[in-house]
Amino acid sequence: MGARPSVERRRALEILRDVRGGTRADESLEQRVAGLDGRQRAFTMELAYGAIRWRDRLDYHLDALLKRGIDTLPPDVISILELGAYQIVFLERVPVWSAVDESVELVNHALPDGVARWASGLVNAVLRNVDRQRQDLPLPDSEDPILHLAIKHSHPKWMVARWLAAFGADTTEALLESNNRPPHLHLAINVQVATTGSVLEALVDAGIEARPHPDKPDAIVVGRGTPPTALPGWAEGWFWVQDVGSQWVTDVVEARPEDRVLDACAAPGTKLCGLLTKAPTIRALAVDIDAARLQRIRDNVHRLALTEPWLVASDARSLPTAAQFSVVLADVPCTGTGVLRRRVDARWRRSPGDVATFAAFQRELLTQLADRVAPGGTLVYATCSLEPEENDRVVTAFLADHREFRCVPVGGDAPARHRDGHYLTIRPWSGDLDGFFAARLVREAA
Ligand SMILES: C[S@@+](CC[C@H](N)C(=O)[O-])C[C@H]1O[C@@H](n2cnc3c(N)ncnc32)[C@H](O)[C@@H]1O
Repeated sequence: MGARPSVERRRALEILRDVRGGTRADESLEQRVAGLDGRQRAFTMELAYGAIRWRDRLDYHLDALLKRGIDTLPPDVISILELGAYQIVFLERVPVWSAVDESVELVNHALPDGVARWASGLVNAVLRNVDRQRQDLPLPDSEDPILHLAIKHSHPKWMVARWLAAFGADTTEALLESNNRPPHLHLAINVQVATTGSVLEALVDAGIEARPHPDKPDAIVVGRGTPPTALPGWAEGWFWVQDVGSQWVTDVVEARPEDRVLDACAAPGTKLCGLLTKAPTIRALAVDIDAARLQRIRDNVHRLALTEPWLVASDARSLPTAAQFSVVLADVPCTGTGVLRRRVDARWRRSPGDVATFAAFQRELLTQLADRVAPGGTLVYATCSLEPEENDRVVTAFLADHREFRCVPVGGDAPARHRDGHYLTIRPWSGDLDGFFAARLVREAA
């Protein structure tokens, strides 16, 4: 029996197992790092998220080094090989001997004796081969650009094919690269109790790397690795975590103090918190189909000491009220292709048919919400998708069927490169940002 593998590697393997079993990576991470210190959490996340992001590329390299191919191995052995290969190929600060030894220890620790007996030798030999060939591990021929890019940047082929057709080769490669870059943490400030300056000062005083966002000076960018709950001011409710792209979507709503707001797909309440801090007197109804996720809204507004909105668990297509609202926010479920850098497992969960399925749902939802908008009121439609079928085409179809609505230019302080005509269109390759789409639709006055 050898040494015990590090706690981070054991937890990372558990996360890979959870994700294989259908749990979302972020939900698994939250549970699996409970009880670890900040440094251990950051390294566990780096290992697990890295191996998930780079899965197809790592499997391609491993497959080439395995006589019988990777698919013949038990899932846990594949995960341990992926974690080990990730460290060797992508994590320069981990010495190769440590990546190999720890992987062998992980086999001995995590697998039944019968499997560990043969798998430890195999993992040792394959990972040493990965190291030997590290400089020139082969990729598929670039004559098949879809397969080449899919493996090189570890994305499903259908996504690459779709983006090549929509965006062209250069933009697609920039997008694929940005999806594999671990994002920074962005903070939105609870202006009821703090200022950007006061939060920045507290972070810097605590030795945390933090700066104002270059394009949104009232948002803060925090260096990688610190869990938000460990930042000074978290418990005091000075801020919440929200990508700057998403903060610009909140700005599109332009809530006024007297507004009655329906947030139709509200959980976990990130955008709602932005509305409630900037216009605390709005009367808000927050709806989500997922009752458990509604609790997260409650937790957020309580930590930030904001007025709790009415919370209703319901399908927004059949609301238990006929009331009308001066503002309706439809931040709809979507394929999430704009936020793949953050949701590391989402690329493997999606299938090509999802785009059409979500688009049909989004059209139906908007149609059902149209009557909830009071005359003269505003309907804001938003997604974190890059796909035109879920974005401008949903809006165009809605406007064709609802002549009482017109699309007006979005406001806010997002730079011109994040706008396309009347729309907000944030592209992940155009900065350290998640991708979003938002449109502002105004109903004619009675
Ligand atoms: C993009 S997320 C919303 C994010 C949220 N607006 C925020 O800023 O934190 C979409 C939400 O829609 C919810 N949802 C999915 N189908 C729904 C439906 N038919 N009615 C209402 N909510 C739904 C999901 O549970 C999910 O919480």
